[in-house]
Amino acid sequence: MSQSPKSDGNEPSAKRGEMIALCSAKGGIGRTVMAVNLAVALSKKNVQVGLLDGNFQFGDIALALDLQPTFTIKDVVEGIGEMDRYALSGFLIHHGSGVKTLAAPERPEFADLVTPAVIDRVCDLLLAQTDYLVVDTGAGLSEQTLQFIEKADQIFVLTTLEMTAIKNTKLMLETLEVLGYRHKTQLVVNRATMESVIKASDVPDILGYETSMFVPNEWQLATQSLNTGIPFVQNQAKTDLAKALFKWAEQLVIRREISVFKPKSGSFLQQLFHKTSKNITSIF
Ligand SMILES: Nc1ncnc2c1ncn2[C@@H]1O[C@H](COP(=O)(O)OP(=O)(O)OP(=O)(O)O)[C@@H](O)[C@H]1O
Ligand SMILES: [Mg+2]
Repeated sequence: MSQSPKSDGNEPSAKRGEMIALCSAKGGIGRTVMAVNLAVALSKKNVQVGLLDGNFQFGDIALALDLQPTFTIKDVVEGIGEMDRYALSGFLIHHGSGVKTLAAPERPEFADLVTPAVIDRVCDLLLAQTDYLVVDTGAGLSEQTLQFIEKADQIFVLTTLEMTAIKNTKLMLETLEVLGYRHKTQLVVNRATMESVIKASDVPDILGYETSMFVPNEWQLATQSLNTGIPFVQNQAKTDLAKALFKWAEQLVIRREISVFKPKSGSFLQQLFHKTSKNITSIF
């Protein structure tokens, strides 16, 4: 297949991956450790996975995967006018798992260079070459995070059982609902087995959302994953924490398979034609 270097990644034949945004109202909830482990867990399913560090001020994705980025999204911004998906490939850092990563700028003052328009373009170009694009967003509802939320196919809002996390998660979920994103928003309770006055099983009632994932509290494993840059799904695959992430990845793949292979009913004329041609075939 010939690939035109001038193609902009938006041609009709461009592959359209699924965009998964990991968000939280507060910082320190586990977005980064979940994002890297989810991306690596997905990559074990024989699919192309991209990982975008959307925490543009204080992104930790490169550190969490022990990568030394030659380029970051700041370099992409500088050439955005001429950028196509082939040029963008040159800015991605390849992790041993196969996950292709686009790192956050090296300094917080560069974060504002990444405008919503740039986010839109970069996501389209990444989605044209991946099956899944996992985005670790900044905490809260900044303009940049809202752009990811708008573009995402699925938004995972992470919370823990801490009172402040629950209170702010409720506000965030309410805001997403007002903005019309409830249909694509799911709740993830991270550190669900932690000691707390709030029980994980009460969270769906408290927040008014079905909870799609409960991730166990395994501080040592999670912290080791971040500190060593080796995702626990790679070197601690048999632990409950890793199993939760594999289950999450599995759910994403099953959901996508169902939506991709769901039979389309087609137009009335197409159905009529199909029926008529079947009858003609049976006559002969
Ligand atoms: N399931 C878990 N069990 C125990 N500890 C966890 C779990 N998930 C995350 N942590 C710990 O919580 C801390 C914050 O994790 P992480 O850096 O991934 O959060 P974050 O939401 O990305 O934070 P930031 O807002 O700084 O970007 C880390 O010490 C991490 O090890
Ligand atoms: Mg983080």
